[in-house]
Amino acid sequence: MTDITRLRDFVKAMTALADSDADEGQLLARGRALLADLVRHDDWLPDEFALPGPTYRQYLLHCDPAERFSVVSFVWGPGQVTPVHDHTVWGLVGMLRGEEVSTLMLPAADGGPVQTGQVDHLRAGEVVAVSPSLHDVHVVSNALADRSSISIHVYGGNIGRIRRHMFDPATSLATPFVSGYSNHVVPNLWE
Ligand SMILES: [Fe+2]
Repeated sequence: MTDITRLRDFVKAMTALADSDADEGQLLARGRALLADLVRHDDWLPDEFALPGPTYRQYLLHCDPAERFSVVSFVWGPGQVTPVHDHTVWGLVGMLRGEEVSTLMLPAADGGPVQTGQVDHLRAGEVVAVSPSLHDVHVVSNALADRSSISIHVYGGNIGRIRRHMFDPATSLATPFVSGYSNHVVPNLWE
């Protein structure tokens, strides 16, 4: 059986951080270090939360009871890609397995096409931040054509229940969406 201790310790540390009076910058800095510790080892994610599907999967691993943060495993099959989307809350993305590409997207104010910004390749062990106070719109895809990639995301809210936006690449038109989660059962942090 997979030893889930690392995830439990991460959730405990994130809860303590949420309980502190850290502002968003401090949350991102300290959360980033905690997430880097978590994704440094790929030996704790139970297999049922690492399964790819016909589209990318987002498995809820833990949601803070006060919805101050959530932890999600994103599983990308070969060639899978998100829509152009925003988050509306801060987020941290840590690469656990494989590699993904995050491309900043710049919606046009006048109804023109979405412009492409900086392209970041995220490799196993690396962590990046997203935030409405930095730039919050991007597209994420699996960088690998022959296998799944998995990233662990932490968001400053219950991300599967937050009303946010997808953008039409041709017109920059924003459409509200709520992502939900791929799973109905969360992992037992205490086994
Ligand atoms: Fe995203």
